[in-house]
Amino acid sequence: MSTSTLPHVPGTDPSRCILDSFRISIAKRLSEALPPLTIEQAYTGVDYGKKGEDFTVAIPRFRLPGKVDELAGKVIGQFQEDEWIQSVKHDKAFLHFQCKTTTLTRRILDQVHGLTYATPSGKPEYGTNTTGAGKKVIIEYSSPNIAKSFHVGHLRSTIIGAFLSNLYKACGWDVISMNYLGDWGTQFGMIAVGFQKYGSQEELEKDAIKHLYDVYVKITKDSEADPEVKVEAAKWFKRMEDGDEEALKNWRVWRAMSIKKYAEEYDRLNVAFDVYTGESEVSKGSQDKALARLEEMGLISDVDGAKLIDLEKWKLAKAVVRKKDGTSIYLTRDIGGAIERYEKYQFDKMIYVISAQQDLHVAQFFKVLKLMDYPWADRLEHVNYGLVLGMSTRKGTAVFLDQIIKEAANVMHEHMQKNAEKYANIEDPETVAREVGISGIKIQDMAAKRINNYSFNWDRMLSFEGDTGPYLQYAHVRLASMERKNPQLLPLPETTSIDTSVLTESHAREIIFLLGTYPDVVKTAMKTQEPSGVVTFAFRLSHAIASAWETVAVKSEQDTAKAQARLWMYLCARDVLAAAMRLLSLRPLERM
Ligand code: ARG
Repeated sequence: MSTSTLPHVPGTDPSRCILDSFRISIAKRLSEALPPLTIEQAYTGVDYGKKGEDFTVAIPRFRLPGKVDELAGKVIGQFQEDEWIQSVKHDKAFLHFQCKTTTLTRRILDQVHGLTYATPSGKPEYGTNTTGAGKKVIIEYSSPNIAKSFHVGHLRSTIIGAFLSNLYKACGWDVISMNYLGDWGTQFGMIAVGFQKYGSQEELEKDAIKHLYDVYVKITKDSEADPEVKVEAAKWFKRMEDGDEEALKNWRVWRAMSIKKYAEEYDRLNVAFDVYTGESEVSKGSQDKALARLEEMGLISDVDGAKLIDLEKWKLAKAVVRKKDGTSIYLTRDIGGAIERYEKYQFDKMIYVISAQQDLHVAQFFKVLKLMDYPWADRLEHVNYGLVLGMSTRKGTAVFLDQIIKEAANVMHEHMQKNAEKYANIEDPETVAREVGISGIKIQDMAAKRINNYSFNWDRMLSFEGDTGPYLQYAHVRLASMERKNPQLLPLPETTSIDTSVLTESHAREIIFLLGTYPDVVKTAMKTQEPSGVVTFAFRLSHAIASAWETVAVKSEQDTAKAQARLWMYLCARDVLAAAMRLLSLRPLERM
């Protein structure tokens, strides 16, 4: 028998998610026993069961005439075991279905194996789907401000944005990841003025981001005592806006050097951008055009020479869209920027990963674009997130990304050194410490719903106990060591010759079922745009594996065929855990 004996249900794809087949088989029984329920309707009612049950159906949700008991009776009366479903149980308003273990085991491991091992040759990875095929998405994230601090808000945007761009790729979308730098604005006038006084070519070359920030801090201090500084700075910025090449020369160098430094740091974080753009790249023309159109629509008023847009009607306040001296403004640049991006990329969707602190700002420019009647305005999405509280290094406040990365590596390194014996066996402890440290930061960030605030806690995030990044890395390393530790079982037979029917322990079944759910985890993440479900999945899988080591042992198992089947299961688990970790932008480690 094959999957082709089951009818097709729209939105399912058993070739990538074998649990779809089990659900279709259940839905088919329901629709046959309970007319006029269609198989599609029935399918939407098949949910995961609570512990001990594979799938559960709540009968009342179908709103069928008749008593629940009678309806359940009909399903049970007609029930016949087949290769997919083994039994059904009636419990109050629910029907619980149990999958046939031999089919479940065989099909899931085959699918995981077939898809994960096929990747190098270009076949899809397990867990991926094609729902976004042919569609293009721009994901804008990170977007720090040159010469201002890279704060944790930017770190969150970077982590969540990297996850989303991996997720969209996994769902078949053509993804353009974009970094929209804060590289324009009066602060560059300040830095230009400050650079004449405090700038050093040498410092700039050493660490552009830090040096420009230092200059900015010093000149801002000066400006408090001497108002002339700000006037000078505004004049300078006006020259930049007017395209005065002399005024732009240094700025160009600063920008390029900052991007170079950022790219290195992103690389350490396993994050990459297809496009570095910035506020400076939004043309004056597109902003002028937008303003003119808004003016025509009667939405603009002049206040002391500045232009104001009134969005009170939509409870979005009033906002300045152009300053008195004619220079541009953050909001207007976002309006012009979106228009230019659509012209250039014709995206099907554009996502802005920006802190919830800017909810009003984002709502304002989305609204303006809608008012301007752009048909693509409803393709914009804001993915927001809450605050990080109490983020600092142990010595003081971290304001730069590289300090955060270094601190994570240091804390982890000290931790590792406590176990001298183990430490001596690690080839490149610094790199390992950095990777594990970064995993700790990322997992802490993605473990809860985005909108929640959380407090930054070095000890908690870098502990090996509890649901942390280091714990996940450790779980992966342990799985990755299994082949090394069991050479007597290698090479494994052709997978078709591995007898999976020996994988009968409930711990083994639990692991395998979880592996089967991974394609659903990816789909759900796509619906919610949340990384937390993937994090939860990775922990559940790691926990299930941790509790199986004794009952589903490999090394101590005398029966070779059995030991090989178990090893194969663990290797499949390793690959799925690694896939989930990569989706979360982690680099799964081989040793630590
Ligand atoms: N650079 C801005 C900041 O640090 C974030 C930019 C967000 N993106 C945008 N299109 N407004 O606050």
